[in-house]
Amino acid sequence: MAVSSQPVPRVIGVDVSRPDPHSYFDDEQPRARHLELELDLDFDARRVVGRVTLVLEAAVPAIDPDGALPVLDLDTDGLEIEAVLGDGGERLGAVLDDADPVLGRRLRVDLAAGTSRVTIEYRAAADAIGLQWLSPEQTSGGVQPFVFSQFQAIHARSVVPLQDSPGARVTFEAALTVPESLVAVMGAGAGVAEPGPRAGTRTFRFEMPQAIPPYLISFAAGDLVSRELSERSRIWAEPSVVEAAAYEFAEVEAMMATAEGMFGAYDWDRYDLLVLPPSFPYGGMENPRLTFLTPTVIAGDRSLTDVIAHELAHSWTGNLITNANADHFWLNEGATTWAERRIVEALHGEEAVTLAWAIGEQGLADAFERFGVDSPFTRLRTDLGGGDPDAVYSIVPYEKGARFLVLLERAVGRERFDAFLRRYIERYRFSSITTEEFVAFLDQELPGVGGEVGAQEWLYEPGLPENAPRFESGRLEELIALGGGFGDGVRPSAEEVEGWSASELLVYLQRVPRPLAAEDCRWLDERFELMGRGNYELLVEWLTIAAASDYEPAFARIREVLVEVGRMKYVRPLFLAMGEHARTRELAREVYAAAAPGYHELSRRAARDVMAGYSAG
Ligand code: BES
Ligand code: ZN
Repeated sequence: MAVSSQPVPRVIGVDVSRPDPHSYFDDEQPRARHLELELDLDFDARRVVGRVTLVLEAAVPAIDPDGALPVLDLDTDGLEIEAVLGDGGERLGAVLDDADPVLGRRLRVDLAAGTSRVTIEYRAAADAIGLQWLSPEQTSGGVQPFVFSQFQAIHARSVVPLQDSPGARVTFEAALTVPESLVAVMGAGAGVAEPGPRAGTRTFRFEMPQAIPPYLISFAAGDLVSRELSERSRIWAEPSVVEAAAYEFAEVEAMMATAEGMFGAYDWDRYDLLVLPPSFPYGGMENPRLTFLTPTVIAGDRSLTDVIAHELAHSWTGNLITNANADHFWLNEGATTWAERRIVEALHGEEAVTLAWAIGEQGLADAFERFGVDSPFTRLRTDLGGGDPDAVYSIVPYEKGARFLVLLERAVGRERFDAFLRRYIERYRFSSITTEEFVAFLDQELPGVGGEVGAQEWLYEPGLPENAPRFESGRLEELIALGGGFGDGVRPSAEEVEGWSASELLVYLQRVPRPLAAEDCRWLDERFELMGRGNYELLVEWLTIAAASDYEPAFARIREVLVEVGRMKYVRPLFLAMGEHARTRELAREVYAAAAPGYHELSRRAARDVMAGYSAG
């Protein structure tokens, strides 16, 4: 093995040629522009056996005898490096540093004059954080195993050694080898299957001609089938889920047309969707050409399709224009949440979007409470300094970021703002930018407006500025009054609540005070038939009230939901609400023990993190 191990001091934030505090990517070194990826998915060992060739932008020039020897710094996390080879298959020197707890291990490769391709043969760890391997029992079909990737923000490096920074965009071609009973899919151009290298295997070949940040590399394999949604969109899911999914997401083409009207042509050819098993730790992930989705968005009545609007909108904001690093995450999520709401408004009307803003407002208030309003984690432009982005993930960049854009939109009028956004996309498409670049563009295109709305405060200060836009409607006022009046005995009648939409009910439930007495919990459950809701936003909001109220009749349902579903948006608040009473803390520990084996590592960490904050008892 050509790799030695030796500690090297870390110089985060000092090294000017390192544009990303979460990556060893060095601007001044050769750039890998294209990857040739071969991943053999070994389901028995739960390991990826990999071989990647990093194709450099240009061959390394003749080496100046007095100059420094050219090197290539790559990110790795838990990878076992077996060989590092140059263009002709000759071994290159390489050193794997000690691990940084967040960044992983730097792999420094010695380049030679003329090197234009670096090939690395390696194995990923069985507990690679970028993957979850599922046993057949953890899938809905129960017969075949499943694996999926989730690389944002900094987990590509646990599966592929590369320059793992959003500024280091790559195109790629990939060959995925899987057991022949499985179908492999990738966020890339269509997969073509051929016999694999060993008996009982198949290899799927993909190609990604558009340059993407490494966190958008994505794949999954399992018992997957697909249904057409439109000429350029299909849904992938396990056979038992695919029909319900096709019904739920039928609106996709209409959403695409709306988004294209706002942002310009869709740049990624196809827009397919993949429904994952319920342990998927997010609601959705905007992997290009193939959005990954939690099955909890299949409510049965299309009431949670704002998640699709959101992930689709990332095709422009996030995937075309990408945050330069995790400190500028609001550029991805704030702009996408703003766009999501515009799509919802166009398709479902102003009343619907006002409720969506109100739901987000409550989420924002909860996040301020979690961190404290003065916390630097409530800034839009953050300064994580190499700290773990997963640990401080919150709704703040989404809801605060989107509100900042609404403020700009209201300041100049929708027409001018939309034109500004189209120029922004035109100018920065297929690049990765900072908050400061955004501000410079804003000042150039809409002079004076940033100053007028207080952009500096919005971007660099914690909390929510006084001039935050308000979203109001008569209906919203009514719902807030009803929910907020609960403590004073206000109880809507059965006739009154008939025909409430899911969003209306969610706004109401969010405003219901907690804890409640058992009889009030019972009343809520009966009036709104909450325990059996297929809409997980409603179900979880209800169970959060029940947990915070120590309401025992809900314990079994809480256990059931948390053992089944690993989506962090639900895991966090439910475990948090269970921290209020000795009996629910006991429940939490018991549920965690039952659920943890099926959870993604990120969800386990989220639950443990919340439980670590429980007071004793
Ligand atoms: N890109 C995010 C998910 C993400 C963020 C994964 C950071 C890893 C690190 C995705 O677009 C997202 O925001 N999903 C939301 C849904 C949305 C409607 C707010 C989610 O998962 O809940
Ligand atoms: Zn998003």
